[in-house]
Amino acid sequence: MSNASSSAASGAMDPVRAKRGLWSSRLAFILAATGSAVGLGNIWKFPYITGENGGGAFVLVYLLCIAAVGLPIMMAEVLIGRRGGLSPVNSMRAITSHEGLKPAWRWLAVIGVLAGFLILSFYSVIGGWAISYVGTAATGQLTGQTAESIGAIFSGLLSDPLTLLMWHTLFMALVMVVVARGVRSGLERAVSILMPALFVLLLVVVGYAMTTGHFGQAVAFLFQPDFSKLTTSGVLVALGHAFFTLSLGMGVMMAYGSYLPKDISIAKTSITVSVMDTAVALLAGLAIFPIVFANGLEPGAGPGLIFQTLPLAFGQMPMGSLFGTLFFLLLIFAAWTSGISLLEPLVEWLEEQKGMNRKVSTLGAGIVCWLLGIASILSLNLWSDFAPLGMFAMFEGKTIFDLLDFLTANILLPLGGLLVAVFVGWYMSRQALESELSMSPTVFSVWYRVLRYFTPIAVAVVFVYNLV
Ligand code: PHE
Repeated sequence: MSNASSSAASGAMDPVRAKRGLWSSRLAFILAATGSAVGLGNIWKFPYITGENGGGAFVLVYLLCIAAVGLPIMMAEVLIGRRGGLSPVNSMRAITSHEGLKPAWRWLAVIGVLAGFLILSFYSVIGGWAISYVGTAATGQLTGQTAESIGAIFSGLLSDPLTLLMWHTLFMALVMVVVARGVRSGLERAVSILMPALFVLLLVVVGYAMTTGHFGQAVAFLFQPDFSKLTTSGVLVALGHAFFTLSLGMGVMMAYGSYLPKDISIAKTSITVSVMDTAVALLAGLAIFPIVFANGLEPGAGPGLIFQTLPLAFGQMPMGSLFGTLFFLLLIFAAWTSGISLLEPLVEWLEEQKGMNRKVSTLGAGIVCWLLGIASILSLNLWSDFAPLGMFAMFEGKTIFDLLDFLTANILLPLGGLLVAVFVGWYMSRQALESELSMSPTVFSVWYRVLRYFTPIAVAVVFVYNLV
């Protein structure tokens, strides 16, 4: 055990902790955590998996997963971070040593750090798609297009590895620049302006979507559950997405929680973050599906869905080039703040653990992640028929990109979350939890029961059902 982590458990006198500083306010934490949560998961992924899984019933399961699984785990993760006061892996070490538990628990944070690294590799590629669409929108290429020609622009992009590489490189560089300089300088201010702007632009698109004459159909699609369309794998996808969209199961909330001052309510802040994240996802659905139906597009079109629908809307609405450019700029920004949070836990750990300088660790981790991203790029074109684990039924037809998405969102993140629930619910002392959460005894006991019983059982059942 390193000096840093053993002394961290003893509290605020610790030199490492003292050096790190804290968020300037409750709002600062909310902004950073929301910046991590709101990203491509809400605007790119949520609509397309909803389309693939038949709409209403899937959305209902997703909302249940957010409230009954995601939120309690978010509180548990923030709690671990604040109690440990270090990077996720070392916070886990500090808590286990303080509470006399097995140090092996820190592996749950290691799984998370690994998951974040894997996610960033393909997340950056999608972030690159958004960058490319800024140019497409700004140069007026979307104006007056048809669904076919918009589809052709998108498939043209996917079939061009060099262009994809260029934008992936730019996205990764943007992430690395911020992480190398330390996450908190600048992030607070940027998030507080750009997040509300993204929200307003989404409302503009929803406003446009209301004029398409298919808004009612979209509302019915999203909110009228038809359980005959829900499959067991759909339930797994909904659960996995609850983790993905709230940035859970990989230590982000632990890392950000470690900067949270003691007098701030973990429950209130976690609820705020979850509600905002869900609102953005639902708005994205309301923006996209009217356009899908109005243009006779396929809701289950897959990962390209928003890149084939939103451009159509921007091509038809007044001042569409301007709104389109702004929208994709804000999408890049949302993806950027999430990308930063995906790299941060790994870099923090390298820095603390290996004594590496922040710039060097960012550069090393970023470059390896960038290299891995190239495999995802190639799986969209030259390697599109290559399914590395295709011999197993559950991975049939999955490219490298699909596999990375599946492995992280549907396996690693829920597994990380499950371990967090078990660790906090069954191993940490109740007294430690009560002192961190300081909420009314009734609310505490609801949270505690959900975390101890409901959350682990729900995750385990969904897992077992899908793997067997
Ligand atoms: N929550 C982010 C999104 O919805 C993605 C993410 C996942 C970020 C896990 C950090 C950790 O886009």
